[in-house]
Amino acid sequence: MDQRPIGVFDSGVGGLTTVRELKRLLPGEDIIYFGDTGRVPYGSRSRETIIKYARQDVAFLRTFDLKAIVIACGTVSTTALDLLREENPIPVLGVVEPAARAAAKATRSGVIGLIGTQATIRSGAYERVISAANPTAKVMAKACPLFVPLVENGRVEPGDIVIETVVKEYLSPLKDAGVDTLVLGCTHYPLLERVIGAFMGPDVTLINAGAEGARATCQTLRQSDALANRAAGVSRYFVSDSTADFSRLAAIFLREDVTGQVQQVEIGA
Ligand code: SIN
Repeated sequence: MDQRPIGVFDSGVGGLTTVRELKRLLPGEDIIYFGDTGRVPYGSRSRETIIKYARQDVAFLRTFDLKAIVIACGTVSTTALDLLREENPIPVLGVVEPAARAAAKATRSGVIGLIGTQATIRSGAYERVISAANPTAKVMAKACPLFVPLVENGRVEPGDIVIETVVKEYLSPLKDAGVDTLVLGCTHYPLLERVIGAFMGPDVTLINAGAEGARATCQTLRQSDALANRAAGVSRYFVSDSTADFSRLAAIFLREDVTGQVQQVEIGA
C-alpha cells in the first residue's frame, strides 16, 4: 500500500483523458496534474525542445512526494520516456506501449490507422510496438497537427463545422484504406472521439491512448502493491497559463467543477 499521489503531466488539457480513467479505476488515489498550457503544443517542436520541456514538467511534479509519474502525453511518451525513466528513481509510465498493444490485439483485418502529432509520427514508436506484438499488422500513420490547438480551444463537439472539416481532411485517406482500428495516439484526440467515431463509422475500433495509459498504470501499481487504500482521493491541478480556461475545459472533459483545485505556476523560468 502507498498513499502518496500519482503525478500526471501533459502539454495541456489532453492528459485529462488519462486522469478521467484513473479516477474511474482508482477513486482512492490522490492525483497531482500538471498541464503546460502556456507552451502547448509540444508535437510540432524539435526533439530537443520536447525533452527540455518534459524535464521541466517532471522537475515540477517531483516537488511533490510521488509514487509514480504518468506521461499522459503521446509526444513526450514517444520522445522522452526512456530518458525520463533513467533520470528518475520512481516508476515513469507512458501511453504508447499500452495503446499500441491494444491496437495490435483489436485489429481483425491487420490494417491499423495511427494518428498523432508530427513528433509522434516521426518517432516510429507506435509502429515498433505494434510490429513486435503483431508482425503481420500494417500501420498507416498520419500526423494531425491542427487537432491539438482545436481541442485546446474547446472545438470538440459534433456539428462544429471547423472540427468536422479538419477531421474529414485528415482521416479520409485512412478511411479509404479500410483501417479497422484507429489509434488516437495523442491524449488530446480522445476528446474528439465522438466526431472521429462518427466519421470513421461503427466498424472502426478507436484506441484511446490516454485511457490505455491509465489502465496500464493501474495494473503496474496493483502488481507492486502500491495502491492507496482510502475511499476517495483528492486531485490538484497545476497549469502554466490561465486557470479559468483550464477549469472551463476540465468541466467539459472531466464532467466536474475543478475551479478551486487549479493553480497557475511558473515553469522553466
Ligand atoms: C501536443 O502538445 O502537441 C500534443 C500532446 C500529445 O501528443 O499527447
